[in-house]
Amino acid sequence: MSAQQAVGAWAQAQAEYGQRRILANVAPFADDRAALAGAVCASPSRAHPDYYYVWTRDAALVMGEVLEWLDAAPNSTRRHALEQVLDDYVAFTRHVQGLRGLAYGLGEAKFHVDGSPFRASWCNPQHDGPAIRALTLARYARHLARRARDTTATVAAITRDLDHEARGRRFYTLLAQHRAQRYADAAAAIAAEMLPRFWDAGRGYIVATLDHAGGIGTKRSNLDVQVLLAVLHHGADHQLDAPEVADTVLALLRAFEPVYAINQVVRTDVLGQSVPIGVAVGRYPEDVYNGDGSSVGNPWSLATSAIAEYHYRHALQYLAAGRVHVHAGLAQLVLWTQSFHASDADAKLLAAVRPGAMLRAGEREFRGLIHYLLASGDLYMARVSRHTANDHTMYEQWSRYTGYGRGAIHLTWSYAAHSSAHRRRTALVQALGL
Ligand SMILES: *[C@@H]1O[C@H](CO)[C@@H](O)[C@H](O)[C@H]1NC(C)=O
Repeated sequence: MSAQQAVGAWAQAQAEYGQRRILANVAPFADDRAALAGAVCASPSRAHPDYYYVWTRDAALVMGEVLEWLDAAPNSTRRHALEQVLDDYVAFTRHVQGLRGLAYGLGEAKFHVDGSPFRASWCNPQHDGPAIRALTLARYARHLARRARDTTATVAAITRDLDHEARGRRFYTLLAQHRAQRYADAAAAIAAEMLPRFWDAGRGYIVATLDHAGGIGTKRSNLDVQVLLAVLHHGADHQLDAPEVADTVLALLRAFEPVYAINQVVRTDVLGQSVPIGVAVGRYPEDVYNGDGSSVGNPWSLATSAIAEYHYRHALQYLAAGRVHVHAGLAQLVLWTQSFHASDADAKLLAAVRPGAMLRAGEREFRGLIHYLLASGDLYMARVSRHTANDHTMYEQWSRYTGYGRGAIHLTWSYAAHSSAHRRRTALVQALGL
């Protein structure tokens, strides 16, 4: 087995386990009769930390991943089981949309799993939640329509979410709302203000937040993995390949590399193969949240999976286009990553990846770059593998010193982020005939 096959085999086994875990985190729960069907808990952990809640945004992203499994369902039993989960999620959504007296309306960040509102003052609104949910529900409505099933409840839920007012000024929020916007002129206005306004030429990356009003005093660099997550979750293809996004990914890798001691380890064992590993990535460099309180921040499983996914999707996008117009951001990212895994042969091929160069399908350099992006994504996939327990249990974070799991156990989003990266890797490996 090659290193590449080992990473693939691990990722496949992890994804299968992850699917079971994700579905186990959606009510009904055997140990909690009060939970409303369709409630997606962030984690079954009810203390240190207590994550036993439904965050609107997380739940929508996780359900978006579950939707992706529908088309790949091997038989109708499986498909019906998944549809039942999604139908429950629609019903849960309709329930919380009908609640009265919410402090932030539909922007309420989270709910109890029994469907009641969470009432504590520290919980900030998340105005991107309804937009993200609308996107997931719109995809489910299309699935239902294709299957000639009733879409009334799903469409009603979407309509409620889209009526929720735009308020935030975060890059993530704007991009999510942009995708969900019903009104073309508003969408154009948001798109026009996005990249130019959030691009910080002095720092050389896209900043996460524009208005520094409230709650972000410790994010001095304003460099945050949520920019990458926004592009992965809601960006169009041209945004995924924007030079500014590549610069931001490189800025994240450079910022986190020296921050976490575990990044000094550069190889790991995956199913008996020694493979190179990339940088473990957290939320933002100044983070002090340790998963259960404040001390030092740690790398996050979902953030590192996102870096893997970014590389795989780049390769898929270039394959689909049949060409790569190399921009400075891509060239720099490739150059920087070379120190982690490139062979001399790679280095020769990659010399062609210069700003302004055009690589076309059929050329050795084009194929070389695609394979290199697969191997680059695998650096981060293997990093996730290193810090995931042998029984496939994932946590929210990994200790920056020891690499062992920290924070919420079985974090639903950790499994979903891995599943999403693995799906892209599988598509890429198939496209390359590997
Ligand atoms: C349907 O597929 C699942 C795998 O997702 C499998 O476990 C199950 O046995 C299959 N059921 C039938 C009836 O073939």
